[in-house]
Amino acid sequence: MATLSLKNIRKSYGALEVLHGIDVELEDGGFLVLLGPSGCGKSTLLNIIAGLDDSSSGDIAIGGRSVSALPPKDRNIAMVFQSYALYPAMSVERNIGFGLEMRGVPAGQRREAVAQAADMLQVTHLLDRKPANLSGGQRQRVAMGRAIVRNPDLFLFDEPLSNLDAKLRVEMRTEIKRLHERLGTSIVYVTHDQIEAMTLATKVAVMKGGHLQQLADPRTIYERPANMFVAGFIGSPAMNFLRGRVVKSDRGWQFRAEGVALELGAGNGELTERDLILGVRPEELKIVQVHGAFHGVIDVVEPTGPDTILTTVVGPQTVIARVEPRFSGKRGDPVAFAVDPSSVNLFDAETQLRL
Ligand SMILES: Nc1ncnc2c1ncn2[C@@H]1O[C@H](COP(=O)(O)OP(=O)(O)OP(=O)(O)O)[C@@H](O)[C@H]1O
Ligand SMILES: [Mg+2]
Repeated sequence: MATLSLKNIRKSYGALEVLHGIDVELEDGGFLVLLGPSGCGKSTLLNIIAGLDDSSSGDIAIGGRSVSALPPKDRNIAMVFQSYALYPAMSVERNIGFGLEMRGVPAGQRREAVAQAADMLQVTHLLDRKPANLSGGQRQRVAMGRAIVRNPDLFLFDEPLSNLDAKLRVEMRTEIKRLHERLGTSIVYVTHDQIEAMTLATKVAVMKGGHLQQLADPRTIYERPANMFVAGFIGSPAMNFLRGRVVKSDRGWQFRAEGVALELGAGNGELTERDLILGVRPEELKIVQVHGAFHGVIDVVEPTGPDTILTTVVGPQTVIARVEPRFSGKRGDPVAFAVDPSSVNLFDAETQLRL
């Protein structure tokens, strides 16, 4: 187990800077997810932590010890890649134990470590097989086994589930969470899947274009996103953004747009009368018969099973709501929503930052 500390990590390829000063602190035993769209620098940052790639500047400490000058083998980390990179000619047992074999760990001790990891990952019955005779999920387990037996300070995962089909991905996600809880080893995990980030992380680092957008626990990221990029990247259907104006009302402040009059309460002194953007999650819109803050017309009704996604038109703007599964309204019906003002976020229309 170990803490991880990244200080002002920068990376340039020639004149092109792809990481612009990343600062991250991860607690001992924490699960850090690097989340962001393709090309934002997640793998680059992970490879720099691993020592597979050099940063242009900045420092990395694992367990309080700077490892920036150390080669990968001296950082006491274990990495699991998207392409499991198993040795095709070796049995599962030898694949899992190969790192130990290379380091001269005696056969008896090796066998014991492999047996323990295999048991934890439920691949004991596969130890004699070759990787070609395994399913994708089984290969993924073997790759994780190989990392576990090394008993590292830090696991590094780069999109480990992206080669699996949707159902298996969900299963392996649970497996990784269980493994983290059992081992307690700190993990850095790269993904562009927001559900993986929400379910696995103790801390999420949302990245965009080589910049860190927000570093926080998943709940904070979801409920209090630092800006509209983070707000829109997490959550499906995405957060609704409505253009409007905040004005004084007899109960404090009110957000107004065509079809919308939402009391915001007294505010915290930061509000002034101004144009801004209201962010409201689809599940925070509650259908009501009276006293609605939003008044619109239903455009599309999509039952998904556990709930119904309603696309509505409020004034000139589209508002998406997640409502009960047996919702019986139809296209063209009027609809009103109430919203708990404590669940909304206000964003500056220029800077896109949360107020
Ligand atoms: N060797 C290289 N030379 C120049 N640019 C590079 C090199 N490697 C990566 N890049 C650039 O650095 C940026 C970050 O790449 P990186 O692979 O870290 O992205 P990523 O977030 O992991 O994306 P993905 O989700 O697609 O894996 C990209 O714009 C990429 O084009
Ligand atoms: Mg990548």
